[in-house]
Amino acid sequence: MKLFFITGNEHKSREAERVLKEYDVIIERKDLECEEIRAESCDEIALSCLRMLRGRVNKPFFVEDSGLFIDALNGFPGTLSSWVFKKIGNEGVLRLMRGERKRDAHFISSVAAWDGKKEKVFIGEAKGRISNELRGKGGFGYDPIFIPEGSEETFGENPANKLGCSHRTRAFEQLGKWLRR
Ligand code: IMP
Repeated sequence: MKLFFITGNEHKSREAERVLKEYDVIIERKDLECEEIRAESCDEIALSCLRMLRGRVNKPFFVEDSGLFIDALNGFPGTLSSWVFKKIGNEGVLRLMRGERKRDAHFISSVAAWDGKKEKVFIGEAKGRISNELRGKGGFGYDPIFIPEGSEETFGENPANKLGCSHRTRAFEQLGKWLRR
């Protein structure tokens, strides 16, 4: 099966390719602008984006919205993750966390898909903590400051580990199973 992934982010699309090929799903990336609503949850944003794009993409497709939620900052940057990253980057987030001992955080990935007949949303989560300093050059975004549960390395230091346990992998696996149903 072939499906369009509407995203401007090549990292996300490479991650999708690697996971979905296990389900015999071939994806093609298409970069279409979607005006992002302001909402507290990634699934609301992903679903609204899917609905906005339905008329423009007349083939099966999916979109994805994700964010980093830091407990000590009451879930900030959350659905503002992309904007916050552009404004203050990882250094800025580490500054906000300076002296903070409670460093728990999680990533959420919401995938909204249209298979030509039905729409469906899948949510993946990766729990972990914020490192004390920047570590690793792999991946993108907050990867160099996020240490997943059960590991001592950031996603930036160990991208192979990321592929096995990331929020996006978990959401794409559900998508793959749904498409194969
Ligand atoms: P959006 O889903 O395009 O709105 O962007 C979410 C933002 O969250 C990205 O621009 C990154 O800054 C961050 N983010 C989402 N997923 C990841 C990830 O897997 N690693 C690192 N940062 C991520």
